[in-house]
Amino acid sequence: MPVYHPRPSSAALPPLTEARHTPVIEVSHLHFSYADGHKALHDITFSIHAGEKVALVGPNGAGKSTLMLHLNGILGGDDHVRVYDLPTIKANLPRIRALVGLVFQNPDDQLFSPTVLEDVAFGPLHMGLPEADVRQRVQAALAQVGMSAYAQRLSHHLSVGEKKRITIATVLSMQPELLALDEPSAGLDPRARRQLIELLRQLPQTMLISTHDLLMVGELCPRALIIDTGRLVADGNTAEILSDAQLLHSHGLELPHIPATLRFPGPVTVSGSS
Ligand SMILES: Nc1ncnc2c1ncn2[C@@H]1O[C@H](COP(=O)(O)OP(=O)(O)OP(=O)(O)O)[C@@H](O)[C@H]1O
Ligand SMILES: [Mg+2]
Repeated sequence: MPVYHPRPSSAALPPLTEARHTPVIEVSHLHFSYADGHKALHDITFSIHAGEKVALVGPNGAGKSTLMLHLNGILGGDDHVRVYDLPTIKANLPRIRALVGLVFQNPDDQLFSPTVLEDVAFGPLHMGLPEADVRQRVQAALAQVGMSAYAQRLSHHLSVGEKKRITIATVLSMQPELLALDEPSAGLDPRARRQLIELLRQLPQTMLISTHDLLMVGELCPRALIIDTGRLVADGNTAEILSDAQLLHSHGLELPHIPATLRFPGPVTVSGSS
């Protein structure tokens, strides 16, 4: 994946009230090949409307991250991807990047400032907001991801799970219309994962969440897309998709299961106890 640090814009948002019935994201017959000729996306078509929380699932290498990087014009950049009817052409990217908050799969692609505070303040500062507003947004975003105590920490010294939460804060501080989250729960411990699910449930933004965490999908997203070898192979009701074992199996997916040997464990012996 390319390393890219988004430069947000101070450009005014489009008149969203006029666009209430316009899809937030409209992807239409999208094809994409990398520079080495590898064709990563084949004829992808779907749209997402305001308020939807949609999961994007598929096996490793399916094209999930490649698709996510098209949503704010990091890859592609044409009429095949539209955000509130704006094609992702260069002239529209400042507005589009204020609308689409993209959280990268790899936190090291997103965190580039010395401290957490600076990373989370970067977006609002470059939107031209007054310092008091920037501080308020930074505090609120860090509180939302449970990382208020980390403002002065060095971003590159954090653990993977801590970085993951800070990357989400860097996007929340910009208050985007659409959150595009690439594997947000990967690397989180169970408590942090639970907090993330509750946070995403409460946030009002429209969401596209790329993930291998099918239980999270079942909890959060009424609609799911399956992508495999760059092709969209399912788009529908999450409960129906997750209950179709054959569909999941044929695309390298499965719901987690507890091995029979662990279902009725004996008493736990704590090391050192008598
Ligand atoms: N910069 C690149 N150049 C060439 N091929 C690439 C590049 N980045 C990704 N690919 C290829 O494109 C395909 C899709 O990759 P992508 O990272 O989008 O998959 P993914 O669904 O996000 O996988 P994962 O679940 O492992 O994150 C893969 O076959 C990958 O090898
Ligand atoms: Mg990926």
